[in-house]
Amino acid sequence: MSETSPKLRAELEGIPTYKPGKPASADGPVAYKLSSNENPYPPLPGVMESVTAAALNFNRYPDMACTGLMNELAERFGVPVSHLATGTGSVGVAQQLIQATAGPGDEVMYAWRSFEAYPIITRISGATPVQVPLTPGDVHDLDAMADAITDRTRLIFVCNPNNPTGTVVRRAELERFLDRVPGDVLVVLDEAYREFIRDMDVPDGVQLYRDRPNVCVLRTFSKAYGLAGLRVGFAIAHEPVAAALRKTAVPFGVSQLAQDAAIASLRAEDELLGRVGSLVGERTRVADTLRAQGWTVPETQANFVWLRLGERTLDFAAACDQAGVVVRPFAGEGVRITIGETEGNDIFLKVAEGFRKEL
Ligand SMILES: Cc1ncc(COP(=O)(O)O)c(C=O)c1O
Repeated sequence: MSETSPKLRAELEGIPTYKPGKPASADGPVAYKLSSNENPYPPLPGVMESVTAAALNFNRYPDMACTGLMNELAERFGVPVSHLATGTGSVGVAQQLIQATAGPGDEVMYAWRSFEAYPIITRISGATPVQVPLTPGDVHDLDAMADAITDRTRLIFVCNPNNPTGTVVRRAELERFLDRVPGDVLVVLDEAYREFIRDMDVPDGVQLYRDRPNVCVLRTFSKAYGLAGLRVGFAIAHEPVAAALRKTAVPFGVSQLAQDAAIASLRAEDELLGRVGSLVGERTRVADTLRAQGWTVPETQANFVWLRLGERTLDFAAACDQAGVVVRPFAGEGVRITIGETEGNDIFLKVAEGFRKEL
């Protein structure tokens, strides 16, 4: 066998592999998976029917242009089809956005801590990540982000609500920030958890993008719509950006099952948003209970809560595991807990109560 191995790009060295939330183990004590911000509700029967029907034809390639879904989205959001692009989950679209805007020597900025895929997809493209720390209250520091813009900044993510803290940026501060960003820098409003927002001061990115050609909105069917396993997300952006997304797409990336399920979900939106309403109710209950136990919980507008546990992070996650819930620890920083089934949330709250007493 040859001693040499294929030359790989130097940029790939040291890139962390994306760490998915741990699954709930089938035979151990862990019964509830609160580690991946998934929707705990099973697929709706009507959505399941559309997927089963599409499955009859999976010997064929899907509709590459996602025509049906694009038309449905255009109507739902009141945007032209030419302003839409779909992808393999919104993380797939986020990666395409970086491919379209940034390479070696360019900078991609985002808050930190934020969605853990941002540094990975930035470094894969060879661009330089610029991480701007959250404020002490775990909120985006938009002034510091605007101050950090350089000639090399090509793309800025604003994750609203932020993963993993659940915190939001509100209309006035976001508009002030957008006014400061040069027109040739793309701002990506990552709204993966948009449907869980109840704070009326948080702007809808779709309104902000309309008269701002450098703003792009990312949405997903993975969270509120419960299609995480089918991998479909989309962007709304002005034409040059949306066109660039179509160029950078993996051909046939979004399966027909995903396209048809997304269409069926949009048509069943009332029922799905009803489920979101119940999860929001659970979110309030969980956050209120934690505060009553003495925890500091940042105001969350997403389907998860954040506990800053510092050095105790891994101990806390282990205690949750033992009790039958799996959560998402970020070693040395904190734990993100998805709002899931009521029983799972209750187990978590019990662990939190016991742990609090020990602190
Ligand atoms: C902020 C944020 N953006 C994007 C995504 C990607 O979701 P998906 O690729 O399933 O659409 C996630 C998933 O956890 C997320 O938290």
